[in-house]
Amino acid sequence: MNVIAARGSLDAMVAGISAALLGNAGDPSAAVAEVLGLHAADPLLLRGRDCPCRAEGYIRHLLHEDAAQGWAVAALVWRPGQMSPIHAHKAWCAVGVHRGLLTETFYAPGDDPEYPVQVAAVLRRPGDTSHGPARADAIHRLANLGTETAVSIHAYGLPYSRFCTDLNRVFAA
Ligand SMILES: [Fe+2]
Repeated sequence: MNVIAARGSLDAMVAGISAALLGNAGDPSAAVAEVLGLHAADPLLLRGRDCPCRAEGYIRHLLHEDAAQGWAVAALVWRPGQMSPIHAHKAWCAVGVHRGLLTETFYAPGDDPEYPVQVAAVLRRPGDTSHGPARADAIHRLANLGTETAVSIHAYGLPYSRFCTDLNRVFAA
């Protein structure tokens, strides 16, 4: 019964993202983040799905892909101390925290283009969201600085097959 409920919750989130994309052809990231905010902290969202962590670093698990429309949703699992590189996105992105705590640090372009300058850091709790356009100067890093494993839900304007190659512009740490 719980698995059925979980499918319903994930399906509702995917349907909400699809609807948000239809109405926001330019940068849909804010509208998608609003949808993620409604569903991300649902404890049943990932019930019945195996989303293990990885000792070597954070890991993505595909939840849904619409290859024809060019977007996908993944769960990212972060053990304590794991973090993304400092990066900007080449596609729109939206994120909502499912469980645990994530720290999002923002950066501005520096004098040396390879070394952005930290300008702010925000603690993201379950249900909190963030979003950004495909822009080289929208630079951030997500990190699990807490003591429990964290899970976040990410939607990106790219097919999943291109996540590793075409999603991020990575900066020096
Ligand atoms: Fe990102």
